[in-house]
Amino acid sequence: MIVKIGLIGCGAIGTTIAKAVEKGLLNNFTITAIFDLCLERAKELNKILSSPPFIASTFNSFLQQPLDLVIEAASPKAVEEYAEEVLLNHNDLMIMSVGALLKNGLLKRLEEVAHKQGCRIYIPSGAIAGIDAIKAATLGGIEEVIITTRKRPESLKGAPYLEKKGIDLKTISSAILIYEGPAEEAVMFFPANVNVAAVLSLAGIGPKKTKVRVIADPHIDTNQHEIKVKGDFGEMVCLTANFPCPDNPKTSYLAALSAIKTLEETTKVVRIGT
Ligand SMILES: NC(=O)c1ccc[n+]([C@@H]2O[C@H](COP(=O)([O-])OP(=O)(O)OC[C@H]3O[C@@H](n4cnc5c(N)ncnc54)[C@H](O)[C@@H]3O)[C@@H](O)[C@H]2O)c1
Repeated sequence: MIVKIGLIGCGAIGTTIAKAVEKGLLNNFTITAIFDLCLERAKELNKILSSPPFIASTFNSFLQQPLDLVIEAASPKAVEEYAEEVLLNHNDLMIMSVGALLKNGLLKRLEEVAHKQGCRIYIPSGAIAGIDAIKAATLGGIEEVIITTRKRPESLKGAPYLEKKGIDLKTISSAILIYEGPAEEAVMFFPANVNVAAVLSLAGIGPKKTKVRVIADPHIDTNQHEIKVKGDFGEMVCLTANFPCPDNPKTSYLAALSAIKTLEETTKVVRIGT
């Protein structure tokens, strides 16, 4: 069976997924519809695909296309606006803007709708490693989860926290801890930077208990996430130093690859490490 994908968001992640389909990395998938608030971006992505999808100018026309699975690779607002509609349309859903799920009980609501509709929601591990171990560790009990995200100052541009605290990124000349707090708060202050913290909290001890630290560091050229976990199983320290996507320095290439891998896994009989 060929899975018909609808893609919301034609930026860095959407484009990487489209390239994977085109390279034959996702043999059992085809992209049948694409939607982006910026029509030009959708048209650009369309150029990559040899079998042209429907380019939707509205979300409603997007949803009317024949779809099995919708990938959200757009923004937290897109999750808030479209996720429930997607599930009510009997489509499975993959969510990349995971931080949105922590707000106002959205994940619980979507879970209920998905259950009723017989649909699945997929949340890729994103730009971090160790999600498999943390999920297993919850069964024995976890004491503490801390994620320290270290990015170049310009990768944090646009984060509401900076405006709130009057932080001028241009003045940062050495590594500095600019934020520390729970994941549920961090996703609101850094909506485009700490989706990984949201994924981590959902896999582990929840958004209230998962601690997030954000460091702005002008002397690195990777997006780094260090996770420390303590629990009945012992301790885990896990570091990823990610190259950014060429089109978007906020997004790590590994995050896009994890979306592609998650898609592939949905069709497999043998699933390793999930
Ligand atoms: N889960 C993770 O680990 C992880 C990692 C990186 C990025 N992300 C998140 O995934 C999302 C996509 O990342 P990206 O790097 O591809 O972003 P991007 O900025 O490169 O592309 C996003 C695209 O979505 C479009 N868009 C935004 N809001 C929209 C809406 N409401 N409806 C339709 N189109 C909309 C934009 O016009 C843009 O073309 C972002 O929210 C980002 O924060 C998640």
